[in-house]
Amino acid sequence: QNGHKSQVRVWCDGCYDMVHFGHANFLRQAKALGEYLIVGVHTDEEITKHKGPPVFNEEERYKMVRGIKWVDEVVEGAPYVTTLETLDKYDCDFCVHGDDITMTADGVDTYHMVKKADRYREVQRTAGVSTTDLVGRMLLLTRNHFKQGQYEYHVGKEHSSTMGQDSSARSPYTGCSQFLPTTQKIIQFSDGKPPKPGDKIVYVAGAFDLFHVGHLEFLQKAKEQVRGDYLIVGLHTDPVVNRYKLSNFPIMNLHERVLSVLACKYVSEVVIGAPYTVAKDLMDHFKVDVVVHGKTPIMEDENGEDPFKYPKEIGKFVTVDSGNDMTTEKIVERIIRNRLEF
Ligand code: CTP
Ligand code: C5P
Repeated sequence: QNGHKSQVRVWCDGCYDMVHFGHANFLRQAKALGEYLIVGVHTDEEITKHKGPPVFNEEERYKMVRGIKWVDEVVEGAPYVTTLETLDKYDCDFCVHGDDITMTADGVDTYHMVKKADRYREVQRTAGVSTTDLVGRMLLLTRNHFKQGQYEYHVGKEHSSTMGQDSSARSPYTGCSQFLPTTQKIIQFSDGKPPKPGDKIVYVAGAFDLFHVGHLEFLQKAKEQVRGDYLIVGLHTDPVVNRYKLSNFPIMNLHERVLSVLACKYVSEVVIGAPYTVAKDLMDHFKVDVVVHGKTPIMEDENGEDPFKYPKEIGKFVTVDSGNDMTTEKIVERIIRNRLEF
């Protein structure tokens, strides 16, 4: 095998439905086992056959995986059971998967062939985040579990298997998130590169809750349309997001949103807990050349002012059309509509 290379080529396949930072962390580890990472993503038909219909369609899922910075190539419509022919076709040395068993509708291990041929490697799944967990949080949104004025962030001390689902879950911070964020994880996800002299620095700010295909297309266009070189994303704190998104948002806490955004290939840097109003001090500090916002409505600051007043006044504000109408709220609607499928 291995015609065109001195590089180790790695194959990962999966559904990648509701892509989250656990998937990104998986792909990061897989990439580290080699040099070139190819991700095979299954079609809607194939997923429906083996585990029930996905929440996101294949076009959305392909796009999301392409947006992750460790991914070199996406193979659309990869077979559910990984064959040696597939690895050979894409010149991959081995296949990588998380340490859980994936089965076909008939109960066959989808990796039995590559395991037998010793072309299978395993990495540890990221604890505390999964599609099931996120869906659980969304269903909890319909209850009153967010208490304003509580801790900005707090990792629950309960045993993880009892957290999140029980009726005592009060806030997304204390009750729902089982993920333990560390500075090491942030370092692993981060580029760690400052802007180069002369780089055009673009700043965007928002919630970026449940990082989705609308966010991805927005970030791509925000960078491209103003010919930016260095994209900084300011993430609002959980209480700030809750003030303007109402209900029980956000679903992902600030630390989780940081990792989700850092995994995106267009993002250079993240401000963890950015002020809602984009003021002169922030723009000067980061040497921002242009502030970009999408077509979604801009909510006023607490004092009733436009948060983009300053960049607008100095002619450094641009609106871009992401061309995508996905929102976090729509995802929640889809989930609630599909809840019987899970
Ligand atoms: N994965 C991981 N850690 C997680 C979630 C997924 O390492 N918290 C890995 C899986 O083990 C798999 C890859 O990500 O190797 C993507 O495959 P997919 O079929 O999308 O994963 P699921 O296991 O279905 O992910 P989830 O349970 O979150 O839907
Ligand atoms: O709503 P949120 O704060 O997460 O949005 C972050 C940024 O992404 C905003 O500038 C918003 O206008 C943009 N966006 C977009 N298209 C979408 C969703 C969000 O341009 N479908």
